[in-house]
Amino acid sequence: MKKVKVFAPASIGNVAIGFDFLGLALEQPGDELTITEGDKPGIVIQEIIGDNGKLSKDVLKNTASFAAHRLLQHLGQSEVPVKLTLHKKMAMGTGLGSSAASAVAGVYGMNEYLGSPLSKKELLPFAVEAEQMADGAFHADNVAPSLLGGLVFVRPEKSLNHICLPMPWDLSIVMVFPHMQILTSESRAVLKKEIDLKSFITQGCNIMQCTSALYTGDLEQFRDGFKDLIIEPQRAHLIPDFYDIRDIAEKNECIGYSISGAGPSLFALFDQEESAKNYLSQVESYFESNQKKADCFISKVNNQGAKRID
Ligand code: HSE
Repeated sequence: MKKVKVFAPASIGNVAIGFDFLGLALEQPGDELTITEGDKPGIVIQEIIGDNGKLSKDVLKNTASFAAHRLLQHLGQSEVPVKLTLHKKMAMGTGLGSSAASAVAGVYGMNEYLGSPLSKKELLPFAVEAEQMADGAFHADNVAPSLLGGLVFVRPEKSLNHICLPMPWDLSIVMVFPHMQILTSESRAVLKKEIDLKSFITQGCNIMQCTSALYTGDLEQFRDGFKDLIIEPQRAHLIPDFYDIRDIAEKNECIGYSISGAGPSLFALFDQEESAKNYLSQVESYFESNQKKADCFISKVNNQGAKRID
């Protein structure tokens, strides 16, 4: 029987300096999707594992099936009979790009199932549409890195014009997920619609400095510019441990620290693996001594993005 199994990784949206237009793919975790031949025309979600019953099996309400459905429609093949089994490997509302990973798995898996009629890049709009269906906003800062891998600049506009940026350092990324949920819609609702001129200039400088550093490989320039003056200060209060964890990251000489996507996950970048491990164990002790729960793990950058695993 025809069968395709794919993996689509978690990702960090915004990456501090690129609200809605910059994303970074992680090696792990990631969603897995299996597609097999169905018994009737169209898509059926056979099973969803690992979501605690929270996700809809309605094809038009689930990002994996919605993205696959939009691709089939585009190709004029809506009648292709398929069954999907989605294995969620990350919780929703954590800031790890969970809905985006499922959307990418859906569209990438379906394209593989059909013998790859479209290139990876051509799949981007279908996954973005699915992400928009889930959180109401049009941005591809999770979908693009999950699909394409690495660090991606992508315009949050219809063109979805994007550039896969170089990543000249072997960074260790420490992810901290404090056990709480923040809805993307809530985290977006706290943001002011205007910014002042001084902040605009400083943030523009930070973006230029970091982008240049990615091409020159100057890590100190990158560290110096990797600061978000606009979005992070408006959202930090949503995450009670944000500033304490930042102190620990700074003591361990992180390259940068910020909120992953809409939160509540927090990421810190390190060029020394030893520092990443020290930070991780200090953060774990912090949560333990405050009788709070958090999941912490270290990942490298995922340069491949979505891939076929069977
Ligand atoms: N760029 C988005 C945000 C990512 O920060 O709201 C979350 O989906």
